[in-house]
Amino acid sequence: MNIHIYKNKKELDQAVADILIEHVRQNPTITLGLATGSTPIGVYDLLIKDHQMNQTDYSRVTTVNLDEYVKIGKNHPESYFSFMKKNLFDHINIQMDQVHLPDGETDDLDQACEAYNLVLSQHIPDIQILGIGGNGHIGFNEPGTPFDMKTHIVKLAEKTRKDNARFFESLDDVPKEAITMGIQNIMDARKIILMASGANKAEAVKQMLSGPITEQLPASVLQNHPNVEVYIDKEAAKLI
Ligand code: GLP
Repeated sequence: MNIHIYKNKKELDQAVADILIEHVRQNPTITLGLATGSTPIGVYDLLIKDHQMNQTDYSRVTTVNLDEYVKIGKNHPESYFSFMKKNLFDHINIQMDQVHLPDGETDDLDQACEAYNLVLSQHIPDIQILGIGGNGHIGFNEPGTPFDMKTHIVKLAEKTRKDNARFFESLDDVPKEAITMGIQNIMDARKIILMASGANKAEAVKQMLSGPITEQLPASVLQNHPNVEVYIDKEAAKLI
């Protein structure tokens, strides 16, 4: 894993945005694997600004997102579909039939997992953006998730629900389940860019980079991927 450490989140965001913009310009039909959470918002903001200034073209770009909450409905303001529209898709010229998120709204969640695996086999990310949970989760693959799993339904860890409660009115409103790409789907990406900032990620970052490769710290599996770039700020890097 190549590690890039920045003075602050702003510089980190700029570095990741520059890479994405360059790849989209060089390969207009690129498939991007996208993430939600607060970490990538600054990057999406820079992509939007660049699109407005330089007309970078997303009309032939395909995207696949890591995950979605179960049973809050696609149009709920805190669904990951709404998040992606609000923070990126509504502001660039991407075609909405080329963006993909797992379907957390259906009654047949097993079928939704299968359908998403099919989408992922047809659209392997050239670049997958990842954040990391405070407990080392990637996507919504919580500690203990077998590395060979594909898209599946997860019960969210209490820590994850608490971490994400800031987006909801109360902890009770945070969904208890999600549908997520599995570790195996994530490992299929041709290149992975993992981003982390802030001291609350420092322990997970340290374990990911130099701890044992273990299902107890899902991000540690990235040590086995041949093309991972880790972009972190000084705070997140303070234990390495
Ligand atoms: C959620 C998402 C993850 C994300 C993580 C970290 O659980 N499913 O993809 O990496 O949160 O979130 P944040 O970036 O807000 O710290």
